[in-house]
Amino acid sequence: MQVQNKIVIVTGSGSGIGAAAAKHFGRHGAKVVVSDIKEEKAKAVSEEIKNAGGEAIAISADVADYKEVKSLIKDTVGQFGRLDVMVNNAGIGPEHLYKTADHTLSDWDNVIAVNQTGVFYCMKLALRQMLEQGNGNIVNIASLAGLKASLNNLSYSASKFAVVGMTKSAALEYASKNIRINAVCPGYTESDLLSKLLNARPDMDEMLKRVIPMNRYGNVEEIAEAIVWLASDNTKFITGQTITLDGGTSL
Ligand SMILES: NC(=O)c1ccc[n+]([C@@H]2O[C@H](COP(=O)([O-])OP(=O)(O)OC[C@H]3O[C@@H](n4cnc5c(N)ncnc54)[C@H](O)[C@@H]3O)[C@@H](O)[C@H]2O)c1
Repeated sequence: MQVQNKIVIVTGSGSGIGAAAAKHFGRHGAKVVVSDIKEEKAKAVSEEIKNAGGEAIAISADVADYKEVKSLIKDTVGQFGRLDVMVNNAGIGPEHLYKTADHTLSDWDNVIAVNQTGVFYCMKLALRQMLEQGNGNIVNIASLAGLKASLNNLSYSASKFAVVGMTKSAALEYASKNIRINAVCPGYTESDLLSKLLNARPDMDEMLKRVIPMNRYGNVEEIAEAIVWLASDNTKFITGQTITLDGGTSL
């Protein structure tokens, strides 16, 4: 995949899909900024990339904090001189799975702050740098929940529909500026996020697998493959698109 020497930030890459994407970028010769709210996890993934012969640094940042996102991009440009790819992956789910009338205010505020406002901050500040340098590529991690209804998950659903909307609108705004913006929409994928959901509702495991035509969850490497592909020069004419990886669930 053509990402050699590209400077790439992956938010939330201390675990799960983000960590798999960061390592995949590293294997394909990109220079990776592993970023996470949890510094130790970011450092561990960055070390793994370096031990495998790749180039990486770790920078901790909370994507819901505008100043921290600003520093993340400033420090990246300070270290590498530019920012070619911004992968907006950091995301959380609500603590409680309640229907809308009982959805807690704290779940609403937290999920929207990270999944929606965080993506806005990262896009806004990455775009400023990309406009200045005259090129750029953004890959947002939305969800099947950003394309279809979800039960008991309103804040997450709202935030992921917003990510799809922000992807398409901003892609239109910057298509003529040599900046591409796309999203991937994973279905149920094995990660800490999914484990948390299944720990809260063990009955859902059987039910979820029944609605996935391939009868299994996705794995993080499968999602990482699509992220790196969209970020690469193999996909130069693709912008404003959502790629769904869900084992057929949306069918
Ligand atoms: N796993 C799934 O089934 C699934 C399905 C669809 C979409 N997604 C999306 O994929 C993305 C990655 O999820 P995952 O499944 O790998 O989850 P995960 O919990 O394994 O990883 C999320 C990472 O984000 C970090 N993070 C959390 N809040 C942050 C913040 N404010 N700032 C920076 N980092 C923060 C966490 O520390 C963690 O390392 C999320 O946006 C999620 O909504 C996941």
